Amino acid sequence: MSSHALKLRREGVRVGLVPTMGCLHEGHLSLLRLLDGRCDRKAASIFVNPIQFGEGEDLDKYPRDEAHDLELLAENGCNLVFIPDVQEMYPEDFQTYIEVEKLSKPLCGQFRPGHFRGVATVVNRLFNLTGCSVAAFGLKDYQQARVVERMVEDLNLPVELVFGETVRESDGLAMSSRNAYLSAEERELAVRIPTALEWARRQGENGVDDCGLIRDGMLTILNPLLKIKVQYLSAVDPMTLEPRSEVGGSVQILLAAFIGRTRLIDNIRIGPGSGTKPIKGVSV
Ligand code: PAF
Repeated sequence: MSSHALKLRREGVRVGLVPTMGCLHEGHLSLLRLLDGRCDRKAASIFVNPIQFGEGEDLDKYPRDEAHDLELLAENGCNLVFIPDVQEMYPEDFQTYIEVEKLSKPLCGQFRPGHFRGVATVVNRLFNLTGCSVAAFGLKDYQQARVVERMVEDLNLPVELVFGETVRESDGLAMSSRNAYLSAEERELAVRIPTALEWARRQGENGVDDCGLIRDGMLTILNPLLKIKVQYLSAVDPMTLEPRSEVGGSVQILLAAFIGRTRLIDNIRIGPGSGTKPIKGVSV
């Protein structure tokens, strides 16, 4: 990969990258489309990165379907796919990690210690190995997007970042490879997540400013039967991810919740200045 990347660079060919962990869906494909016109070759990486999974998480059962992924990538104009193995990415003596200190701590970072260190480290390596000039990330992983952005800024990485809106199923559930874990009953419950987010969006639009009130209303939608276990539900500054008690112009609401054993995350920007469109397919 590195020698091919070097050759492309020498020829003045700009590579655009969508880093993925495979099991691709429309969300990933929309990121590939986002690269249109921003690079000369579109690349995707498929690598289930062990160092971003904690103990007891789903590394071993993370869904994989390489053959289907390759078909989807070919059909969607991807020119290059990088599928390293764990030994290549982390040889025995590997010992250099990247930590984006402040942004990695709250929200998911609080419950998945080391997760963003793993993400930042692998993303940095994928950038170096593919020599990409531009890379696309989805805003469903909102905290990840902010962490990667900070790393690029702090380390002066020569990579332009583009961020894609969350792609949702017809009933509003955010697309995620992990949705495949949900049983039919759990899948029905999962719709409460976008319902709560859309409800929050409307509160913001109507001028409700108290994040505490919005949070309480969302919790009422999320878990009346206590079948959805909310791990966190926070209103934060969209850039610094610091907690906010008032919506002001706009605030980012992020949540992680377990439905059965499946952990889902989602988020939305709300407030009179947010410009966020309604989530389609959700009835509040
Ligand atoms: O969002 C993901 O799929 C992963 O966190 C990423 C960015 C590919 C790093 O492993």
